[in-house]
Amino acid sequence: MTRRTPRFIQAHQSDSSDERAAALRGLLRTPAEASPKYFYDRLGSHLFDAITELPEYYPTRTEAAVFAAHGAEMASRIGGGASFIDLGAGNCAKAARLLPLLDPARYVAVDISADYLQDALRRLQREHPALDIVGVGLDFSSSPALPADLIGRDERPVFFYPGSSIGNFTPEQAQAFLAGLRAQAQGGGVLIGVDLVKPVPVLEAAYDDALGVTAAFNLNLLRNMNRLVGTDFDPTQWRHVAFFDSARSRIEMHLEAQRALVVGWAGGERAFRAGERLHTENSYKYTIESFSALLRGAGFHDQRCWTSGNGWFAVFWAKA
Ligand code: AVI
Repeated sequence: MTRRTPRFIQAHQSDSSDERAAALRGLLRTPAEASPKYFYDRLGSHLFDAITELPEYYPTRTEAAVFAAHGAEMASRIGGGASFIDLGAGNCAKAARLLPLLDPARYVAVDISADYLQDALRRLQREHPALDIVGVGLDFSSSPALPADLIGRDERPVFFYPGSSIGNFTPEQAQAFLAGLRAQAQGGGVLIGVDLVKPVPVLEAAYDDALGVTAAFNLNLLRNMNRLVGTDFDPTQWRHVAFFDSARSRIEMHLEAQRALVVGWAGGERAFRAGERLHTENSYKYTIESFSALLRGAGFHDQRCWTSGNGWFAVFWAKA
């Protein structure tokens, strides 16, 4: 059998001047805010990988247990021969476990940079020599629109969005994002991981661990903004804050100024009072009912959901 080689496409190059202007507008808002995309430089991605190993951070291992227990049933509902489109693929480890069960015709791995995908996809191609594998560099957080020829004309598109990253959108943004996926998934569907509401101490520990890894992940955003936006944040002047807002059903992460300070950049500055915060991330937690309603609102139907034994995490399959 001839072994295929993965194709790589950089579909999107962001305009850094627009991004810088948007980041500075966020810093000047009251309360100040920064996009969570600034977490993920090289160090930030390593820190996130470390978070997933922490005893307090239950989502990754709980989701893996749901796939291990119910992957075969998921695959039989989804059916073989699909175009399996992995959003935020990273090291492709989650998809790699499902591919033997799913037997798709094509695996499309999407991540911010096609470069990040190179090693993982070459490894995967060795394990699946006949599989059509494509790596796409695309920042799909602003728009999930993929180049039409990547989705495939003949295969059913199945979007795979694990990790509960949907929780990092507001519910309104999440519904719009899902509607965008549905518009591209005719004949297919979406397989998506969703973190569920649970006792507050469990939630808060997951975002404020004893070793301070999540604190380092949050503070690293300041270094990355200095590099990409040209600010002069001093991370030693800030502290990590995370709490669950029950009314909004979301974890909020902030950085809090430990004393009065000024952050400067070419052409501007922002003063922070002692105790004033910079809002860096929301992580929404759903119930089965609230997420099911979101999928319905986005136009999906024939939903099926599998949960972990402790009811902490759900994986939904829904048809477009
Ligand atoms: C990527 N995302 C699903 C993570 C979450 O749990 O919301 C990001 C994260 N932030 C702090 N810890 C992990």
